Amino acid sequence: MTQILIIRADITKLQVDVIVNAANSSLLGGGGVDGAIHRAAGPDLVHECRLLGGCKTGQAKITKGYRLPAAHIIHTVGPVWRGGKQGEPDLLASCYRNSLELAAAKQLHSIAFPSISTGIYGYPIELAARVAVNTVRAFGSESGSIEEVIFCCFSDADLAVYEAVLSEISE
Ligand code: AR6
Repeated sequence: MTQILIIRADITKLQVDVIVNAANSSLLGGGGVDGAIHRAAGPDLVHECRLLGGCKTGQAKITKGYRLPAAHIIHTVGPVWRGGKQGEPDLLASCYRNSLELAAAKQLHSIAFPSISTGIYGYPIELAARVAVNTVRAFGSESGSIEEVIFCCFSDADLAVYEAVLSEISE
């Protein structure tokens, strides 16, 4: 059974098998958590990313972690929030599902997610947290090697939202 943990941390510091990056479709770096991950991993990361040919919204690709404590990075591209009726929930759920599938295919045990799309891409945090928690829960039976899923929040406010959503869904 997969354990779900919610913590407040800088995802670049986590010692897990894989951290997830909220990237853009170029996969060549950007601001927010993407910028932090590229800075912490070092310049070899962008060299590997250049070989990947970009990534569509909702899809995911894996690289090595380079200088990070995490061995791998899964790069996924969340949807830009455009009001919620442009397929955003399905695309965001795909980010989580495809990342989990990649991690399971690589026999990884622990994975940490940032709150995909809720920064620069503007997805409302409560709605995004529900999609995140529901999708990870639903993946449970296919989780294979995955023992631990960490939701890594960057602020106390986001942490409180995730905790509320998790307890609401667990009831
Ligand atoms: N550790 C954990 N979470 C973080 C960190 C960190 N070091 N830094 C920021 N966050 P965002 P998006 C949180 O904007 O909305 C980039 O330019 C942040 O507080 O990083 O998916 C990409 O290249 C928020 O909760 O990603 C894309 O162009 C969450 O990470 C675009 O931004 C996601 O915020 C993607 O936008």
